[in-house]
Amino acid sequence: METVKGVVLAGGLGTRLHPLTSITNKHLLPVWNKPMIYYPIKTLVDAGVKDVMIVTGGNNAGDFLRLLGDGKELGLKHIEYAYQKGEGGIADALRLAEDFIDGNKSVIVLGDNIIEKPIKRFVDKFRRQDSGARILIKKVPDPKRFGVVEFDKSKKRIIKIAEKPKKPKTHYAVTGIYMYDSRVFDIVKKLKPSNRGELEITDVNNAYIKHGQMEYDILSGFWTDSGTFESLLRANNLAANRLSS
Ligand code: DAU
Repeated sequence: METVKGVVLAGGLGTRLHPLTSITNKHLLPVWNKPMIYYPIKTLVDAGVKDVMIVTGGNNAGDFLRLLGDGKELGLKHIEYAYQKGEGGIADALRLAEDFIDGNKSVIVLGDNIIEKPIKRFVDKFRRQDSGARILIKKVPDPKRFGVVEFDKSKKRIIKIAEKPKKPKTHYAVTGIYMYDSRVFDIVKKLKPSNRGELEITDVNNAYIKHGQMEYDILSGFWTDSGTFESLLRANNLAANRLSS
């Protein structure tokens, strides 16, 4: 079977969660009975992706090593770590995984994204996909907070993604689970910082869309981020009530 490696992006400064994140990294905060980062790692392990890099940054980066060690307890076969300086954006953090991915396909999961149902069947579809990218989308009541997709008339293809649009074209948000072929690193190298000074993952996805190389699936079960007080509370409640420990 084709090699697919995983990356959990756990950098950034988590400023929306101050003062919780003044003394530790957002992804080490509790979500119900586990540190936040356990959830995206489980997402990958359950999908059969067990060779994983953790990109971290900001405060207490060394604590990830103390917490995760060699990753075996969480079901990983191999774990590597990288350190992102500053808060250059999701695509900037991804850049650091280029040597680790080493020309293979990759599944990227944002460190604050928590889901209910396994994504294995989508990752398996991606394994069979010749080239290009695949994203998972989800209908949400508050699309303005996310990357939002626009479809063509047939609803078969995504024609554009808008990052936190004031007037969203649909209610479908792009979740923080992205699958890429090795070309992603060429795309990242050509990116320019956005208005908020970050290298945007939405620009990476739009580049694939432009080349007709973007597939998608609709995620089932709940999905939430946990980077704001409201979403962190929701993540805790969903994990406590709907996930088996
Ligand atoms: O959660 C899904 C959303 O994530 C998508 O719908 C958006 O298109 C995407 O831009 C992103 O939106 P946010 O603005 O909510 O992302 P945030 O800045 O909160 O970063 C999410 C995770 O990405 C964070 O938990 C760790 C990682 N990250 C982020 C930044 C800015 C890094 O590793 N390094 C960074 O510099």
